[in-house]
Amino acid sequence: MSGNSTEPLNLFDYETLAQTRLSRRAWNYISDGAADEITLRANRQAFDALRLRPHMLRDVSVIDTTTSFLGASLAQPVMVAPMAYQRLACEEGEVAVAVAAAATQTALCLSTLSTREIGEVAAPHGSLPRFFQLYMLKDRGITRELVSRACASGFGAIVLTVDAPYPGRRERGSADRMVLPSGLHLANLDGLGGRESWSIANFASELDASLSWRDLDWLSSLSPLPVIVKGILRADDASMAIDHGAGAICVSNHGGRQLDTAIASITALPEIVQAVHSRCDVILDGGIRRGTDVLKALALGARAVLVGRPVIWGLAHSGAAGAQRVLELLRDEFRLAMALAGCARISDIDQSLVV
Ligand code: FNR
Ligand code: LAC
Repeated sequence: MSGNSTEPLNLFDYETLAQTRLSRRAWNYISDGAADEITLRANRQAFDALRLRPHMLRDVSVIDTTTSFLGASLAQPVMVAPMAYQRLACEEGEVAVAVAAAATQTALCLSTLSTREIGEVAAPHGSLPRFFQLYMLKDRGITRELVSRACASGFGAIVLTVDAPYPGRRERGSADRMVLPSGLHLANLDGLGGRESWSIANFASELDASLSWRDLDWLSSLSPLPVIVKGILRADDASMAIDHGAGAICVSNHGGRQLDTAIASITALPEIVQAVHSRCDVILDGGIRRGTDVLKALALGARAVLVGRPVIWGLAHSGAAGAQRVLELLRDEFRLAMALAGCARISDIDQSLVV
């Protein structure tokens, strides 16, 4: 927001503006990180500490950001991360994010804890790639049902979140017990497992903390869709995930919301990419705020990245239009970063670009 203009210039401007538009409870929930927020900050600090070594004189008159992930083509290597309760930020919630993603040809992940039904979200997103994030509940019948609905609604993969057997210790929001404002539902879960309507407390008590590698075997064999394992931070776990049927790995610390002092996701990426050794695609989330962050993640071996909170900031600022603008800003920054680093195509981005 330069001079007299109030037009947000970057994702951080959207953060500032979102805070003024959200209730204290919603803001605390969205911005929260675990405990002392060391990991939350580390996700950003680790990106900032990486320096680029740009190439010159490489004809960047035409920049092509297209790539592919799990066999689907992507207009750019940025996707929307799965985030719960998006109607906290605007009335249309997840539907507005799907509209924004469609307008920018962006792939998205829908949370199990969506406040809009899976079919309502799929419709405006058309035939673009989208993935369904799964929290495994004690009642495996619910998992079967969610997987089959995701298939029916054109989702191309299941994103199994493995870093949240319990919610992390989040202190910003601890003064107000997180309850959904009246009128908001866990729309994907309502009616399942013999429960007419699901509260956050119901979900918390049904979340299966016994989840183990055996369950990944089970899910991989049950699901006709590939399983992306989200929340991996170590090379040995990445290899185990592949051995147990994972179709892709998402390096993530849940945006610093789970285990505080866990390693920054961009710091964990290189050892994981090395261990995976091209056996499957690796993606990453946590702290993506600039086009140069996307470039750095790709240079270190990520196929694509997921962006979380900034999409919600855009939603809080101006609904679907705001979320769209956030995705456009990131896309345009990434395109410029590619050009200034001498990369006309995604395949030109390699490890030598970062120190
Ligand atoms: C999340 N995240 C998340 N992850 C997941 O697998 N299922 C979920 O329902 C949610 N819900 C959720 C809500 C909110 C408000 C936030 C901020 C995050 C984690 C998310 O998918 C992603 O890992 C991080 O948000 C990425 O970090 P940044 O981009 O927010 O820094
Ligand atoms: C969160 C959960 C819902 O991070 O994944 O709030």
